[in-house]
Amino acid sequence: MATINKNYDKLQGTYLFSEIAKRTKDFIEKNPRVKIMRLGIGDTTEPLTPTAIGGLEAGIQKLGNIKTYTGYGDTQGNIALRAALVDFYKKRNISLDVQEIFISDGAKSDSANIQSIFGIDNIVAITDPVYTVYLDSNVIAGRTGEFVNGKYKGIVYMECNETNGFTPVPPKVKTDIIYLCNPNNPTGSVMTRDQLKAFVDYALKNKAVIIFDTAYAEYISDKSLPKSIYEIEGAKKCAIEINSFSKWAGFTGVRLGFTVVPIDLVVEDTQVGKINSLWQRRQSTMFNGASNIAQHGALAVLSLRGQKESRKLIDYYMNNASLIKKSLSKLGFKIFGGEHAPYIWLKIPGKLSSWEFFDKLLTEAHVVATPGSGFGLQGEGYVRFSAFGDKTMTLKAMKSIENNLKL
Ligand SMILES: Cc1ncc(COP(=O)(O)O)c(C=O)c1O
Repeated sequence: MATINKNYDKLQGTYLFSEIAKRTKDFIEKNPRVKIMRLGIGDTTEPLTPTAIGGLEAGIQKLGNIKTYTGYGDTQGNIALRAALVDFYKKRNISLDVQEIFISDGAKSDSANIQSIFGIDNIVAITDPVYTVYLDSNVIAGRTGEFVNGKYKGIVYMECNETNGFTPVPPKVKTDIIYLCNPNNPTGSVMTRDQLKAFVDYALKNKAVIIFDTAYAEYISDKSLPKSIYEIEGAKKCAIEINSFSKWAGFTGVRLGFTVVPIDLVVEDTQVGKINSLWQRRQSTMFNGASNIAQHGALAVLSLRGQKESRKLIDYYMNNASLIKKSLSKLGFKIFGGEHAPYIWLKIPGKLSSWEFFDKLLTEAHVVATPGSGFGLQGEGYVRFSAFGDKTMTLKAMKSIENNLKL
């Protein structure tokens, strides 16, 4: 008799964004003439840059010619793309080898799958609030107990709240796998070099591994802030870095990401290179490589012109972020983030819960935001505004909040 993976039953409720979609749909059905302004989901909206389009088109053209056609590629990724990423890191004084870079179809799958190369008995630390993929993938794998009072047994939660500026500090207890998202989704916070160093020191001391998701790295505008964990000394011995072309090059639909697994990374008493070879084995067994067209596009994004154009995309979204911040602050809301990340974290005044405030925003101002409680216990009492969206729509949404939200 076949049985199911009962860990799935431990997962909480519906996926956050399905619930948002359902409530929004219900509202539209009852109010068909109302125009909804969506500042909820972190999905890009602006068209791809000319250079990215050129790269993707060149990739397609190659497939139409017998001399340049390619089928399956190197599972680890196109070597030219990996070499371009080595150069990309070199500009930050980080030296990597092409063998340490794994091209993928995005940061979500890598951040969910990476746990599979580690033992089931590892103690996992996550931030609260959290990008839920890190948590749910470990729940499904069986690394947690039941969900009690808003928390999974067996997980160590690093609380991020107003007191610590929504920035985690290393756990007081010993843990083995630590997930960090920097710049942070959902709070929009960003870590300083010293704050990140504290985690690297902790990981080295405890022989733990840090899974560092830096999908929003290019949104960091202050040069003194680290964009990669490998800017911190010793990080190659204890950290895996996951990144994506989604948020800085608009590849959310194209799909392309990459993960760095340093040769020097060791856990327990594994030999140098072992973790890198485990991820290589996992990927070659369960993945057949990223789309060759998408990889061609990414190579173009990494060109000087491509990077310059992507900068404009980021500036566009960050201009939205400052419009949102300005408008919400003017109304007296306490807000965080939005400086080095395209997310604004709003503290709900009074006693309304995140979902109550979500409903209020939707029904009174026709604006969709994301309830903070969907990201963890510490997110209760907050909502997340996303700066991804059209500028005109963002301005309209802010006007509507100013004019219609009953405060
Ligand atoms: C922190 C973080 N990591 C990863 C992803 C997913 O990235 P990708 O589109 O590359 O799968 C997201 C998407 O919202 C994210 O916020």
